[in-house]
Amino acid sequence: MSEAAAPYYRHHIFFCLNQRDGGQACCAAHGAEQAFAHCKARVKALGLAGPGGVRVNRAGCLDRCAGGPVAVVYPQGVWYTYVDLADIDEIVTSHLRDGVVVERLRLPPDVGR
Ligand code: FES
Repeated sequence: MSEAAAPYYRHHIFFCLNQRDGGQACCAAHGAEQAFAHCKARVKALGLAGPGGVRVNRAGCLDRCAGGPVAVVYPQGVWYTYVDLADIDEIVTSHLRDGVVVERLRLPPDVGR
């Protein structure tokens, strides 16, 4: 692979942390901030963080709110929805560490806003 084609991060995961007022559906109302912090801590603890490894980032609304909370992993473009921190642990060890997509947590393709 040429240098230009090599991704800076092997896996880059973005968590929607969007908060909406007035009781509208949003990822922040479903534990997204806690999941983000947990993912970041686990990636660091496993020594996966950094160039050539994994980067965990905050994101605003990703416009797939109906499936929230959501996160997306690039460069594969794999979308996840999760319920608890055990789901985050599985995404970290299976996908971000071992490169195996967690099929049971994939967001259905037709889920939008
Ligand atoms: S509020 Fe999270 S995808 Fe829109």
